[in-house]
Amino acid sequence: MAAKVFLTHRLPGERVHELARACDLNVWMGPGLLSAADLRAELAGCQGLVCLLTDRIDRALLDAAPDLRFVSSMSVGVDHVDVQALTERGIPLGHTPGVLVETTADTAFALLMAAARRLGEADRFVRQGSWTADTAWAPDFFTGKDVNGATLGIVGLGAIGQAVARRALGFGMRVVAWNRTPRAVPGVELLALEELLALSDFVSVHVALSADTRQLLDADKIALMKPGAVLVNTARGGIVDEAALAVALGEGRLFAAGIDVFEREPVAADNPLLGLPNVVLAPHIGSATQGTRALMADMAAANALAALRGEHMPCCVNPSVYDQL
Ligand code: GLV
Repeated sequence: MAAKVFLTHRLPGERVHELARACDLNVWMGPGLLSAADLRAELAGCQGLVCLLTDRIDRALLDAAPDLRFVSSMSVGVDHVDVQALTERGIPLGHTPGVLVETTADTAFALLMAAARRLGEADRFVRQGSWTADTAWAPDFFTGKDVNGATLGIVGLGAIGQAVARRALGFGMRVVAWNRTPRAVPGVELLALEELLALSDFVSVHVALSADTRQLLDADKIALMKPGAVLVNTARGGIVDEAALAVALGEGRLFAAGIDVFEREPVAADNPLLGLPNVVLAPHIGSATQGTRALMADMAAANALAALRGEHMPCCVNPSVYDQL
């Protein structure tokens, strides 16, 4: 009998068709995101799960899915999954690193530029009809911050952090970085996190969210940032204290922010960042190009296909489960 696999969203790309031929695939057709109760019900009797970062895979869900043999997430980040609980059960977890590096770095840089040059505000200004003869042009009209010649501090010098560094060097920035384990990257000066925050005109966050990095940029760290600096976050909302950031931005202590990720997603209507004109916002679209999303979906399907064949997943977060066999 073919293995039962539940897919929590329709996927782009080609390999999902191969997956559909290789198992008894049940695809959630919506509408909207799957609730925790729906996921639990759909997963009953399944050997495999292919999910998105919006699906919470916790112990309670795993307890209710005793037949589960693998999980493949179409994401590089796996903070939505209790990896330890999976590992304890010998269940491999697949993810999709690598293919989204350049696209996510583009998003970070787009937000950096947009925040520096106030593009969100400027767009609203023109659209709302505020651009009139009275406000036609003036020496201080919509002045922002120069990127060229400024210092960018990269928090987390993994593949995406390094891709952002390459862009920044091309834009004539000085690039400094902090990484938990020191890493030599051409053109990038490594600093302690506190030093980086005090020195950088722009700070871009590129660490994964884990118990160690939750609230890494808390109120105390935000207070260390250079006055007038810009913060960009395309990693995970939970890494930055949103309330403290909003206070710093509201008081004008920080110049602006570009934020693609939030502690709670979809973002709550009363999130204080939403009311600030100097924040450029995006709805977690770091990897959102058609090409990259298709590659991510293909990787997620490839991980699932390998698991169905009884092979090691090509991109496994917890390969130690294979030692237990
Ligand atoms: C996106 O945030 C991802 O983890 O793939």
